[in-house]
Amino acid sequence: MDNMKIPKHIAIMMDGNGRWAKKKFMPRTFGHMQGSKTLENICKAASDLGVEYLTVYAFSTENWKRPKDEVEGLMNLLKKYLSEYVEISVNNNMRVKIIGNMEKMDDEFQGLVNNLEKATANCTGLKFQIAINYGGKDEIIRATKKIALEYFNKDIDISKINEELFDTYMDTADIPEPELFIRTGGERRLSNFLLWEMAHTEMYFTDVLWPDFKKEDFEKAIFKYSKRDKVCNN
Ligand code: FPP
Repeated sequence: MDNMKIPKHIAIMMDGNGRWAKKKFMPRTFGHMQGSKTLENICKAASDLGVEYLTVYAFSTENWKRPKDEVEGLMNLLKKYLSEYVEISVNNNMRVKIIGNMEKMDDEFQGLVNNLEKATANCTGLKFQIAINYGGKDEIIRATKKIALEYFNKDIDISKINEELFDTYMDTADIPEPELFIRTGGERRLSNFLLWEMAHTEMYFTDVLWPDFKKEDFEKAIFKYSKRDKVCNN
């Protein structure tokens, strides 16, 4: 794996937890639990390979439509993860940031998010973004509302609105665009993830279900990316 061009920023859609669990005659939440273990391993692999930014899709604005017990299971898992990750992230020097619409989350959830972000704010290793209650279209609308409010308050001049300025209103302000997007689980769609940020991103799709995704699969995706010898001007 020497001489591999390592992307600075990798975005991942961790798909296939439900099917993985079903194959084992287990509830879908069991698949998500196993998926969170895979995520821990991939964070470690990303750090070891020198990836600077990793962004994962944990819960979409559409996921609320899933059966109540699955939504509850995922929320409980996320809360557990947010609290446990204070220590794990500090020990691994990972800065964690949550992207998505936090206004709709309950006070306990927001408290856990603030706590984790604060505790890891000075970590200088992997910059790890977790998208929760996130939708690409929703992020663009929220950014537009912030700009409109500043325009209304006469704090912004309409002629100054360009791509660079718009970037600064996004949840991913100060985070470079991902060079590589990985989606596990066999689907070949973007599913409303980082729509603004992935305008130029290379896409990698694999049939491996997320709980089965190993360090070797991650390295294979990066290897394939690094072999695509493209001139990026589009
Ligand atoms: C998609 O699989 C996955 C999700 C909706 C949730 C992703 C969450 C995790 C990997 C675990 C928790 C995350 C953190 C940050 C702790 P799916 O349920 O759509 O699978 P399917 O396509 O097989 O039904």
